[in-house]
Amino acid sequence: MPNLKHTLENWLRKTIAGRFSKVRDFEQAKFMDELPRLVAAEADSRSLDPETRHQLLYYIQRRLLPDFVIADHGRVILDNLEFREYFTRFSNDNWTSFERKWNLKELLRLTRQLPGDFAECGVFRGGSAALMCEAAAQQGKHVHLFDSFAGLSKPDAAESSHWTEGDLAVSEADVRHNLAAYANFTTYPGWIPQRFADAADKTFSLVHVDVDLEQPTRDSIEFFFPRMPAGGILLLDDHGSAMCPGARQAALDYFSGRAEPVLDLATGQGLVIKGSGRAADP
Ligand SMILES: C[S@@+](CC[C@H](N)C(=O)[O-])C[C@H]1O[C@@H](n2cnc3c(N)ncnc32)[C@H](O)[C@@H]1O
Repeated sequence: MPNLKHTLENWLRKTIAGRFSKVRDFEQAKFMDELPRLVAAEADSRSLDPETRHQLLYYIQRRLLPDFVIADHGRVILDNLEFREYFTRFSNDNWTSFERKWNLKELLRLTRQLPGDFAECGVFRGGSAALMCEAAAQQGKHVHLFDSFAGLSKPDAAESSHWTEGDLAVSEADVRHNLAAYANFTTYPGWIPQRFADAADKTFSLVHVDVDLEQPTRDSIEFFFPRMPAGGILLLDDHGSAMCPGARQAALDYFSGRAEPVLDLATGQGLVIKGSGRAADP
């Protein structure tokens, strides 16, 4: 007869995989799975309305992690069913990038009048690429997708210990399947910057850089920024993440000698608008 604790542990590891991917200890995993259920059951039994549930969440957060901040109750973006449906399709039940994806979707609306295609460095399952393909279809543009399709390159010693070589690997075939609704993209498999030469003659109105590590972030900014028109948008997904110190450093180094500031968005993204910060023409 198999050991009950062992069986339970395996089952729980499988159920929580993806949700608590960094939790390895059985007792901790059990606690993390059970405690929210208990709190939710209590809220259900008291028929708490959504606003009160948000308050409960707020008080739990204040006690548990006082340095963290959760947003207000009742934000209208959460009522956008079309966006929720899109996000649910790509998120694998991980909601941590919901607001970052929203920001990308909104920024894509600013490129309608700008010349140039879209590019993404770091594609993963194609979640952000899908938003770019959708906007590109509406604007008659093309989307250029650069990724190893074999996960992260080897993090060097200065990177956070959060990452391991090969993390976040999704095959090119899987990404193409996820983007099957679109015909307006090209994938460039290879380690950044190997395939950039294939797009050297293009201009780009929006570039999304999301590769988590310093060197590919540095290479991506150095290649794409000179190929963007005034008003072009560079969105750096990892810029404000403590798990990606190298990616932040790469952007700060590049823009330290330029007029454009790198805006630290509350979501952890960095935003640069080409030509911003310059004195207006006389
Ligand atoms: C965080 S994921 C991208 C997430 C995606 N933008 C989204 O929002 O759904 C990071 C991606 O960067 C890719 N990547 C990391 N380092 C790379 C490198 N040196 N060359 C090419 N791709 C790399 C990984 O394969 C992975 O797909």
